[in-house]
Amino acid sequence: MNLLVTGGAGFIGSHVVRGMVKNYPNYNIFNLDKLTYAGNLENLKDIEKRPNYKFLKGDIVDEAYIFKIFEEYNFEGVIHLAAESHVDRSIKDPLSFVRTNIIGTVNLLNAARQYWRNSKEGKRFYHVSTDEVYGTLGESGLFTETTSYDPNSPYSASKASSDHFVRAYGETYKLPYVVSNCSNNYGPNHFPEKLIPLFINNIIEKKPLPVYGDGKYTRDWLFVEDHATAIDLVFHKGKNHETYNIGGFNEWQNIDLVKLLCQIMDRKLERPSGSSEKLITYVKDRPGHDLRYAIDANKINKELGWKPSVTFKQGLEKTVDWFLQNKEWLASVTSGEYQDYYNKMYSKSL
Ligand code: NAD
Ligand code: TYD
Repeated sequence: MNLLVTGGAGFIGSHVVRGMVKNYPNYNIFNLDKLTYAGNLENLKDIEKRPNYKFLKGDIVDEAYIFKIFEEYNFEGVIHLAAESHVDRSIKDPLSFVRTNIIGTVNLLNAARQYWRNSKEGKRFYHVSTDEVYGTLGESGLFTETTSYDPNSPYSASKASSDHFVRAYGETYKLPYVVSNCSNNYGPNHFPEKLIPLFINNIIEKKPLPVYGDGKYTRDWLFVEDHATAIDLVFHKGKNHETYNIGGFNEWQNIDLVKLLCQIMDRKLERPSGSSEKLITYVKDRPGHDLRYAIDANKINKELGWKPSVTFKQGLEKTVDWFLQNKEWLASVTSGEYQDYYNKMYSKSL
């Protein structure tokens, strides 16, 4: 199979590409990535020389380019992860999310529709989405595959729109597709603009930890390698035209998570207990901040037999160890454009 993975140099994509390259030596894996600030080929250094891996630098918004690579490589499967992925950036610049997440997705759908028009046998378009499309939960309840879409941020609105396009292409053009909606991921290679890696970096540098609002917001955290395993299963075993919710039944209020992370970091850095917690600083809330996300992952568990392989504490320990052992990676991604971003986002509130 010639398999196109988009966004493979990013956080989740790099784990998906590595898994596919290693587990399916008979597939040719094409990793298409624009290498935005979030894409980093360092993430794939260990597999870049494998004969079944090829990197394609390109933009999913560039329609002519997307058609050209479909023509050239005859993809039979697509796992689409390329996206603008950070809520705070989407609040500052919604249009770039419209371009990549909506127009980019429609370009890929159009190319798949065109090149698979004669035979859909064995073809599959897998769209990787997020639980944020469902909006926010109150104190109780879980998102299921039939929960109505109700996005609140420009990021989640753009992902919701792309999900709708995928479904519409399935109905209108009979494009064979699957969608998954996953909860918050964490783990190695996570870009330090998101909560967990940002706070790990700030603790190392003894910088303030900016907790939005009262810190009582709840997220449902999944170790990235478990998400990659779920994606492999859904791609190979999921039913056409179905959605699978992915999550670890692992809800944490931000403030409790941050305190746990502080304890782990104190121990690993051999600092006096309680020193990282002193860095916690409550800052102005994110506008439109969703109170709570939580996934009901029973469908993927029952139908495909998937469940997470690590507990949150194990995953967090592994994650912290990875960041402490990869300080060069952290230094390289937090130089340059990152500093401007950080100053713009946080200088006023800290
Ligand atoms: P990321 O921001 O780390 O990586 C995105 C990748 O896409 C980067 O390598 C970037 O260079 C590439 N990219 C961006 N714009 C592009 C374009 N126009 N053309 C080609 N490549 C482009 O994101 P992530 O956290 O790895 O998320 C991957 C996917 O999973 C996204 O679709 C996201 O919505 C979804 N998702 C993420 C999470 C999470 O917690 N991070 C949870 C559920 C779903
Ligand atoms: P984030 O990692 O940006 O993921 P998402 O917004 O997609 O869930 O944020 C996770 C939670 O942490 C969210 O409730 C916002 C909060 N947060 C902070 O309190 N401070 C920060 O500096 C960041 C980046 C996030």
